Amino acid sequence: MSRGHFITLEGGEGAGKSTQIKRLASALEGSGIKVVATREPGGAPGAEEIRNLLVNGNTDRWAPMAEVLLHTAARAEHLDKTVMPALKNGAWVISDRFSDSTMAYQGYGHGVDKGVIENIYRDVFGDFKPDLTLIIDISPGVGLSRAGTRNQGEDRYERMGDDFHQRLRDGFLEIAKADSKRCVIINGELDEDGVFAAIKDAVTEKLGVKI
Ligand code: TMP
Repeated sequence: MSRGHFITLEGGEGAGKSTQIKRLASALEGSGIKVVATREPGGAPGAEEIRNLLVNGNTDRWAPMAEVLLHTAARAEHLDKTVMPALKNGAWVISDRFSDSTMAYQGYGHGVDKGVIENIYRDVFGDFKPDLTLIIDISPGVGLSRAGTRNQGEDRYERMGDDFHQRLRDGFLEIAKADSKRCVIINGELDEDGVFAAIKDAVTEKLGVKI
């Protein structure tokens, strides 16, 4: 059986990733593709426990480097228990966030050394990378006001201040520019159908599947 594809969605707060993941998953399933939709931090029981430590509580609860390591621990669990088995099984895995979030939030946002973040990733996960990363770009003002209305707790990162959110937006755009083979920037300020149309085009162009 051929290995499935790994697609990640990235972006700041309130970019609308979860709605788009549902639509993408059902479009792929409609084309006969097996899909596993998952998320980070989380996506496996132990990783969801680590998620609780990261998304709740005071903004200064963790040293930035501790955050890098907690997200990495959650990722190791997620890859081992959920992502790799699904890919081996031929499924397409769509993850709401992955390692670009560590670079954007902990690297650009918190100022952890980017080379250290890259080295940790490479030492732990080797050459493994998503096949396609969709970066949903939205201005922090629009995103945070959308995220605020979701009102489901888990808002530790949302409370980190405007400068933090501007830095991580710039970070995602730089990440996309540096790896344009893997990453596509999607305008997250379009309406829901417009965003989805852009996502479908990107999947067709990069992975050769018409949906
Ligand atoms: P969510 O709100 O998209 O579910 O993600 C939870 C939060 O975790 C979000 O505010 C971004 C943050 N995050 C990081 O800071 N670093 C990471 O590596 C990941 C995966 C998420």
